[in-house]
Amino acid sequence: MIKRIAINTGGGDAPGLNAVIRAVTLSARRLGWEVYGIRRGYGGLLGDAPEPGVVPLDVPAVRGITYRGGTILGTTNRGNPFEWPVKNPDGTRSVVDRSDELVAAFHEHGFDALVAVGGDGSLRIAKRLMDKGIPVVGVPKTIDNDLGATEVTFGFHTAVQTATDALDKLHSTAESHERVFVVELMGRTAGWIALTAGLAGTADVILIPEIPYDIARICAKVEERYQQGRRFAIIVAAEGAVPVGGVASVVEKGTAGYAPRFAGVAERLAHQLLERTGRDCRSLVLGHLQRGGTPNAQDREIALRYGAAAVRLLQDGQLGTMAALHNDEITAVPLADAVAEVRRVPVDFDGVRTAREMGVCFGD
Ligand code: F6P
Repeated sequence: MIKRIAINTGGGDAPGLNAVIRAVTLSARRLGWEVYGIRRGYGGLLGDAPEPGVVPLDVPAVRGITYRGGTILGTTNRGNPFEWPVKNPDGTRSVVDRSDELVAAFHEHGFDALVAVGGDGSLRIAKRLMDKGIPVVGVPKTIDNDLGATEVTFGFHTAVQTATDALDKLHSTAESHERVFVVELMGRTAGWIALTAGLAGTADVILIPEIPYDIARICAKVEERYQQGRRFAIIVAAEGAVPVGGVASVVEKGTAGYAPRFAGVAERLAHQLLERTGRDCRSLVLGHLQRGGTPNAQDREIALRYGAAAVRLLQDGQLGTMAALHNDEITAVPLADAVAEVRRVPVDFDGVRTAREMGVCFGD
Protein backbone atom coordinates (compact mmCIF):
# COMPACT_ATOMS: atom_id res chain seq x y z
CA MET A 1 0.00 0.00 0.00
CA ILE A 2 1.27 3.44 -0.91
CA LYS A 3 1.81 5.94 1.89
CA ARG A 4 4.71 8.09 0.78
CA ILE A 5 5.76 9.09 -2.74
CA ALA A 6 8.56 11.14 -4.28
CA ILE A 7 8.59 13.35 -7.38
CA ASN A 8 11.61 13.96 -9.55
CA THR A 9 11.96 16.48 -12.38
CA GLY A 10 14.71 15.37 -14.75
CA GLY A 11 16.41 16.68 -17.87
CA GLY A 12 15.88 20.07 -19.49
CA ASP A 13 13.13 22.13 -17.92
CA ALA A 14 9.83 22.72 -19.72
CA PRO A 15 6.97 25.12 -18.99
CA GLY A 16 4.41 23.18 -16.96
CA LEU A 17 6.72 21.29 -14.59
CA ASN A 18 5.37 23.12 -11.57
CA ALA A 19 1.80 22.43 -12.64
CA VAL A 20 2.62 18.69 -12.62
CA ILE A 21 4.15 19.02 -9.15
CA ARG A 22 1.02 20.79 -7.91
CA ALA A 23 -1.40 18.26 -9.40
CA VAL A 24 0.58 15.28 -8.07
CA THR A 25 0.78 16.85 -4.63
CA LEU A 26 -2.87 17.85 -4.33
CA SER A 27 -4.19 14.55 -5.72
CA ALA A 28 -1.89 12.42 -3.57
CA ARG A 29 -2.53 14.42 -0.40
CA ARG A 30 -6.28 13.89 -0.88
CA LEU A 31 -5.57 10.15 -0.73
CA GLY A 32 -3.70 10.69 2.53
CA TRP A 33 -0.28 10.05 1.00
CA GLU A 34 2.82 11.98 1.96
CA VAL A 35 4.57 13.67 -0.96
CA TYR A 36 8.22 14.65 -1.23
CA GLY A 37 10.12 16.46 -3.97
CA ILE A 38 13.65 15.34 -4.81
CA ARG A 39 15.79 18.39 -5.45
CA ARG A 40 18.10 18.94 -8.40
CA GLY A 41 17.10 15.89 -10.43
CA TYR A 42 18.28 12.86 -8.47
CA GLY A 43 21.00 14.94 -6.83
CA GLY A 44 18.89 15.29 -3.68
CA LEU A 45 19.16 11.56 -3.04
CA LEU A 46 22.87 11.46 -3.82
CA GLY A 47 24.06 14.36 -1.68
CA ASP A 48 24.47 16.59 -4.72
CA ALA A 49 21.85 19.25 -3.97
CA PRO A 50 21.42 21.94 -1.35
CA GLU A 51 20.21 20.47 1.94
CA PRO A 52 17.62 19.18 2.47
CA GLY A 53 17.88 16.95 -0.61
CA VAL A 54 14.21 16.05 -0.39
CA VAL A 55 11.48 18.48 0.62
CA PRO A 56 7.98 17.74 1.89
CA LEU A 57 5.27 18.90 -0.48
CA ASP A 58 1.92 19.84 0.94
CA VAL A 59 -0.89 22.19 0.00
CA PRO A 60 0.88 25.43 1.06
CA ALA A 61 4.13 24.33 -0.64
CA VAL A 62 2.48 24.08 -4.07
CA ARG A 63 0.30 27.16 -3.76
CA GLY A 64 0.67 29.66 -6.61
CA ILE A 65 3.15 27.63 -8.66
CA THR A 66 1.01 26.55 -11.62
CA TYR A 67 1.89 29.61 -13.67
CA ARG A 68 5.57 29.62 -12.78
CA GLY A 69 8.18 28.49 -15.30
CA GLY A 70 11.08 26.18 -14.43
CA THR A 71 10.72 23.71 -11.58
CA ILE A 72 10.63 24.48 -7.87
CA LEU A 73 12.63 21.28 -7.35
CA GLY A 74 15.48 22.07 -9.72
CA THR A 75 16.73 19.81 -12.46
CA THR A 76 19.85 18.92 -14.39
CA ASN A 77 20.45 17.24 -17.69
CA ARG A 78 23.58 15.66 -16.35
CA GLY A 79 21.72 13.75 -13.69
CA ASN A 80 21.86 10.12 -14.77
CA PRO A 81 22.54 8.00 -11.64
CA PHE A 82 23.82 5.18 -13.87
CA GLU A 83 26.45 7.51 -15.35
CA TRP A 84 26.97 10.15 -12.70
CA PRO A 85 29.63 12.71 -13.67
CA VAL A 86 32.66 12.92 -11.40
CA LYS A 87 35.80 15.01 -11.46
CA ASN A 88 38.96 12.92 -11.07
CA PRO A 89 41.92 14.10 -8.94
CA ASP A 90 43.88 14.83 -12.17
CA GLY A 91 41.16 17.21 -13.34
CA THR A 92 39.70 14.86 -15.97
CA ARG A 93 36.05 13.92 -15.91
CA SER A 94 34.42 10.51 -15.99
CA VAL A 95 31.21 8.83 -14.89
CA VAL A 96 30.36 6.30 -12.19
CA ASP A 97 27.31 4.15 -11.58
CA ARG A 98 25.57 5.44 -8.43
CA SER A 99 22.25 3.75 -9.05
CA ASP A 100 22.59 1.30 -6.11
CA GLU A 101 23.25 4.24 -3.80
CA LEU A 102 20.19 5.99 -5.21
CA VAL A 103 17.94 2.95 -4.71
CA ALA A 104 19.21 2.59 -1.13
CA ALA A 105 18.57 6.28 -0.39
CA PHE A 106 15.08 6.00 -1.89
CA HIS A 107 14.22 3.15 0.49
CA GLU A 108 15.91 4.83 3.47
CA HIS A 109 13.54 7.76 3.01
CA GLY A 110 10.65 5.30 3.17
CA PHE A 111 9.32 6.12 -0.29
CA ASP A 112 6.88 3.63 -1.78
CA ALA A 113 6.83 5.00 -5.32
CA LEU A 114 8.38 7.57 -7.64
CA VAL A 115 6.73 9.95 -10.11
CA ALA A 116 9.40 10.64 -12.73
CA VAL A 117 8.70 13.68 -14.87
CA GLY A 118 10.92 13.73 -17.92
CA GLY A 119 11.66 13.38 -21.61
CA ASP A 120 13.09 10.29 -23.27
CA GLY A 121 16.42 10.40 -21.42
CA SER A 122 14.85 10.81 -17.97
CA LEU A 123 12.15 8.24 -18.62
CA ARG A 124 14.79 5.76 -19.80
CA ILE A 125 16.52 6.28 -16.45
CA ALA A 126 13.16 5.84 -14.68
CA LYS A 127 12.65 2.55 -16.49
CA ARG A 128 16.06 1.32 -15.35
CA LEU A 129 15.23 2.33 -11.77
CA MET A 130 11.99 0.38 -12.05
CA ASP A 131 14.03 -2.63 -13.16
CA LYS A 132 16.09 -2.16 -9.98
CA GLY A 133 13.00 -2.34 -7.81
CA ILE A 134 11.74 1.25 -7.53
CA PRO A 135 8.01 1.42 -8.34
CA VAL A 136 7.74 4.19 -10.95
CA VAL A 137 5.17 6.02 -13.04
CA GLY A 138 6.24 8.54 -15.67
CA VAL A 139 4.95 11.89 -16.92
CA PRO A 140 5.95 12.98 -20.44
CA LYS A 141 7.78 16.30 -20.52
CA THR A 142 9.71 18.01 -23.27
CA ILE A 143 9.31 21.11 -25.38
CA ASP A 144 10.49 18.97 -28.33
CA ASN A 145 7.21 16.96 -28.39
CA ASP A 146 9.16 13.97 -29.63
CA LEU A 147 8.04 11.15 -27.32
CA GLY A 148 6.71 8.24 -29.33
CA ALA A 149 4.00 7.02 -26.98
CA THR A 150 1.94 10.17 -26.50
CA GLU A 151 0.38 12.70 -28.83
CA VAL A 152 1.65 15.65 -26.89
CA THR A 153 4.17 16.45 -24.18
CA PHE A 154 3.68 19.45 -21.92
CA GLY A 155 5.91 22.43 -22.61
CA PHE A 156 5.62 22.17 -26.38
CA HIS A 157 2.80 24.66 -26.87
CA THR A 158 4.50 27.37 -24.82
CA ALA A 159 7.76 26.90 -26.71
CA VAL A 160 5.90 27.23 -30.00
CA GLN A 161 4.19 30.39 -28.77
CA THR A 162 7.50 31.92 -27.69
CA ALA A 163 9.03 31.12 -31.07
CA THR A 164 6.01 32.45 -32.94
CA ASP A 165 6.11 35.72 -30.98
CA ALA A 166 9.79 36.06 -31.90
CA LEU A 167 9.05 35.49 -35.59
CA ASP A 168 6.27 38.07 -35.49
CA LYS A 169 8.68 40.62 -34.05
CA LEU A 170 11.40 39.78 -36.54
CA HIS A 171 9.17 40.54 -39.50
CA SER A 172 9.13 44.28 -38.96
CA THR A 173 12.87 44.66 -38.51
CA ALA A 174 13.64 42.25 -41.36
CA GLU A 175 11.37 44.22 -43.68
CA SER A 176 12.70 47.61 -42.60
CA HIS A 177 16.31 46.56 -43.22
CA GLU A 178 15.60 44.33 -46.24
CA ARG A 179 17.34 41.49 -44.46
CA VAL A 180 17.28 37.73 -44.47
CA PHE A 181 16.99 36.21 -40.99
CA VAL A 182 17.76 32.61 -40.21
CA VAL A 183 16.15 31.66 -36.91
CA GLU A 184 17.35 28.54 -35.10
CA LEU A 185 14.75 26.75 -33.00
CA MET A 186 15.11 23.81 -30.61
CA GLY A 187 13.87 20.26 -31.05
CA ARG A 188 16.93 18.02 -31.41
CA THR A 189 16.20 15.48 -34.19
CA ALA A 190 12.50 16.38 -34.43
CA GLY A 191 11.11 19.36 -36.30
CA TRP A 192 7.85 19.88 -34.40
CA ILE A 193 8.72 23.28 -32.91
CA ALA A 194 10.23 24.58 -36.17
CA LEU A 195 7.35 23.37 -38.29
CA THR A 196 4.58 24.60 -36.00
CA ALA A 197 6.13 27.98 -35.18
CA GLY A 198 7.34 28.36 -38.76
CA LEU A 199 3.80 27.94 -40.04
CA ALA A 200 2.20 30.12 -37.36
CA GLY A 201 4.90 32.79 -37.69
CA THR A 202 4.66 32.75 -41.51
CA ALA A 203 8.24 31.81 -42.27
CA ASP A 204 9.20 31.69 -45.95
CA VAL A 205 11.43 28.67 -45.54
CA ILE A 206 11.17 25.95 -42.85
CA LEU A 207 14.00 23.50 -42.40
CA ILE A 208 13.30 20.42 -40.31
CA PRO A 209 15.61 17.49 -39.58
CA GLU A 210 13.23 15.08 -41.30
CA ILE A 211 13.65 16.76 -44.74
CA PRO A 212 17.29 17.35 -45.71
CA TYR A 213 17.77 20.77 -47.30
CA ASP A 214 19.60 21.94 -50.41
CA ILE A 215 21.12 25.40 -49.95
CA ALA A 216 20.57 26.19 -53.65
CA ARG A 217 16.80 25.80 -53.19
CA ILE A 218 16.81 28.15 -50.23
CA CYS A 219 18.77 30.78 -52.18
CA ALA A 220 16.34 30.45 -55.09
CA LYS A 221 13.39 31.00 -52.74
CA VAL A 222 15.01 34.07 -51.19
CA GLU A 223 15.85 35.53 -54.60
CA GLU A 224 12.34 34.86 -55.85
CA ARG A 225 10.96 36.93 -52.98
CA TYR A 226 13.31 39.84 -53.62
CA GLN A 227 12.43 39.77 -57.35
CA GLN A 228 8.76 39.91 -56.40
CA GLY A 229 9.40 43.03 -54.34
CA ARG A 230 9.25 41.27 -50.94
CA ARG A 231 12.71 42.41 -50.03
CA PHE A 232 13.21 40.34 -46.85
CA ALA A 233 12.92 36.71 -45.85
CA ILE A 234 12.49 34.70 -42.67
CA ILE A 235 14.01 31.24 -42.61
CA VAL A 236 13.24 28.94 -39.68
CA ALA A 237 15.79 26.20 -39.13
CA ALA A 238 15.36 23.44 -36.58
CA GLU A 239 18.61 23.06 -34.66
CA GLY A 240 18.90 19.50 -36.00
CA ALA A 241 18.33 20.44 -39.68
CA VAL A 242 20.63 18.57 -42.06
CA PRO A 243 21.88 19.45 -45.53
CA VAL A 244 21.38 16.86 -48.28
CA GLY A 245 24.21 14.37 -47.93
CA GLY A 246 25.52 16.15 -44.82
CA VAL A 247 25.16 16.07 -41.06
CA ALA A 248 23.56 18.24 -38.40
CA SER A 249 25.58 20.94 -36.63
CA VAL A 250 26.57 19.41 -33.33
CA VAL A 251 28.90 21.13 -30.87
CA GLU A 252 29.13 18.37 -28.29
CA LYS A 253 28.94 14.73 -29.18
CA GLY A 254 26.57 12.60 -27.10
CA THR A 255 29.03 11.13 -24.65
CA ALA A 256 28.49 9.01 -21.55
CA GLY A 257 24.82 8.44 -22.17
CA TYR A 258 24.03 12.09 -22.78
CA ALA A 259 22.39 13.41 -25.92
CA PRO A 260 24.44 15.46 -28.38
CA ARG A 261 24.15 19.25 -28.23
CA PHE A 262 23.00 20.87 -31.44
CA ALA A 263 24.11 24.38 -32.36
CA GLY A 264 25.34 26.41 -35.29
CA VAL A 265 22.95 25.68 -38.14
CA ALA A 266 21.58 29.24 -38.34
CA GLU A 267 25.00 30.83 -38.37
CA ARG A 268 26.23 28.40 -41.00
CA LEU A 269 23.21 29.02 -43.20
CA ALA A 270 23.34 32.80 -42.83
CA HIS A 271 26.98 32.70 -43.90
CA GLN A 272 26.28 30.48 -46.90
CA LEU A 273 23.33 32.65 -47.95
CA LEU A 274 25.43 35.81 -47.72
CA GLU A 275 28.15 34.24 -49.86
CA ARG A 276 25.72 32.98 -52.48
CA THR A 277 23.20 35.85 -52.68
CA GLY A 278 25.12 38.86 -51.41
CA ARG A 279 22.06 39.79 -49.35
CA ASP A 280 22.29 41.09 -45.80
CA CYS A 281 21.82 37.86 -43.85
CA ARG A 282 21.67 37.51 -40.06
CA SER A 283 21.24 34.59 -37.74
CA LEU A 284 19.29 34.41 -34.51
CA VAL A 285 19.37 31.56 -32.01
CA LEU A 286 16.27 31.62 -29.84
CA GLY A 287 17.79 29.01 -27.52
CA HIS A 288 16.60 28.55 -23.97
CA LEU A 289 14.05 31.35 -24.21
CA GLN A 290 11.89 28.57 -25.65
CA ARG A 291 12.07 26.70 -22.36
CA GLY A 292 11.67 29.64 -20.03
CA GLY A 293 8.77 31.68 -18.75
CA THR A 294 5.23 31.03 -17.75
CA PRO A 295 3.45 28.03 -19.31
CA ASN A 296 0.51 28.93 -21.51
CA ALA A 297 -3.00 27.75 -20.71
CA GLN A 298 -2.74 24.62 -22.88
CA ASP A 299 0.47 23.44 -21.22
CA ARG A 300 -0.86 24.16 -17.74
CA GLU A 301 -3.98 22.14 -18.44
CA ILE A 302 -2.09 19.21 -19.96
CA ALA A 303 0.48 19.25 -17.17
CA LEU A 304 -2.21 19.26 -14.46
CA ARG A 305 -3.98 16.36 -16.16
CA TYR A 306 -0.75 14.40 -16.44
CA GLY A 307 0.07 15.02 -12.78
CA ALA A 308 -3.33 13.87 -11.53
CA ALA A 309 -3.16 10.89 -13.89
CA ALA A 310 0.21 9.83 -12.48
CA VAL A 311 -1.34 9.54 -9.01
CA ARG A 312 -4.29 7.62 -10.47
CA LEU A 313 -1.88 5.17 -12.12
CA LEU A 314 -0.11 4.62 -8.81
CA GLN A 315 -3.42 4.12 -7.05
CA ASP A 316 -4.47 1.58 -9.69
CA GLY A 317 -1.16 -0.25 -9.36
CA GLN A 318 -0.16 0.48 -12.94
CA LEU A 319 3.53 0.65 -12.14
CA GLY A 320 6.12 0.95 -14.90
CA THR A 321 3.76 3.01 -17.04
CA MET A 322 3.66 6.59 -18.29
CA ALA A 323 0.59 8.79 -18.51
CA ALA A 324 -0.06 9.54 -22.17
CA LEU A 325 -2.62 11.46 -24.21
CA HIS A 326 -4.44 9.86 -27.13
CA ASN A 327 -7.41 11.62 -28.73
CA ASP A 328 -7.45 13.88 -25.69
CA GLU A 329 -7.94 10.89 -23.36
CA ILE A 330 -5.39 9.89 -20.73
CA THR A 331 -4.05 6.39 -21.21
CA ALA A 332 -1.26 4.38 -19.58
CA VAL A 333 1.57 3.18 -21.80
CA PRO A 334 4.44 0.94 -20.67
CA LEU A 335 7.58 2.98 -19.93
CA ALA A 336 9.42 0.70 -22.35
CA ASP A 337 7.12 1.84 -25.19
CA ALA A 338 7.39 5.47 -24.10
CA VAL A 339 11.13 5.51 -24.74
CA ALA A 340 11.23 3.05 -27.63
CA GLU A 341 11.33 5.63 -30.37
CA VAL A 342 11.68 9.35 -31.04
CA ARG A 343 8.51 10.75 -32.60
CA ARG A 344 9.73 12.72 -35.59
CA VAL A 345 7.62 14.70 -38.07
CA PRO A 346 6.29 12.34 -40.75
CA VAL A 347 7.13 13.83 -44.15
CA ASP A 348 3.51 13.35 -45.22
CA PHE A 349 2.21 15.10 -42.06
CA ASP A 350 -0.60 17.53 -42.80
CA GLY A 351 1.40 20.50 -41.50
CA VAL A 352 4.16 19.73 -44.01
CA ARG A 353 1.59 19.41 -46.79
CA THR A 354 -0.08 22.67 -45.77
CA ALA A 355 3.22 24.53 -45.85
CA ARG A 356 4.08 23.11 -49.26
CA GLU A 357 0.62 23.99 -50.63
CA MET A 358 1.13 27.55 -49.42
CA GLY A 359 4.48 27.83 -51.17
CA VAL A 360 6.65 27.59 -48.08
CA CYS A 361 9.98 26.07 -49.04
CA PHE A 362 11.51 23.07 -47.25
CA GLY A 363 14.73 23.48 -49.16
CA ASP A 364 14.54 19.99 -50.65
O1 F6P B 1 15.20 18.47 -25.16
C1 F6P B 1 14.92 19.79 -24.85
C2 F6P B 1 16.00 20.70 -25.36
O2 F6P B 1 15.61 22.03 -25.06
C3 F6P B 1 16.34 20.54 -26.83
O3 F6P B 1 15.41 21.15 -27.68
C4 F6P B 1 17.72 21.14 -26.87
O4 F6P B 1 18.50 20.61 -27.92
C5 F6P B 1 18.30 20.74 -25.56
O5 F6P B 1 17.23 20.48 -24.70
C6 F6P B 1 19.22 21.77 -24.95
O6 F6P B 1 19.66 21.29 -23.73
P1 F6P B 1 20.69 22.05 -22.77
O7 F6P B 1 19.88 22.46 -21.59
O8 F6P B 1 21.69 20.99 -22.44
O9 F6P B 1 21.27 23.20 -23.51
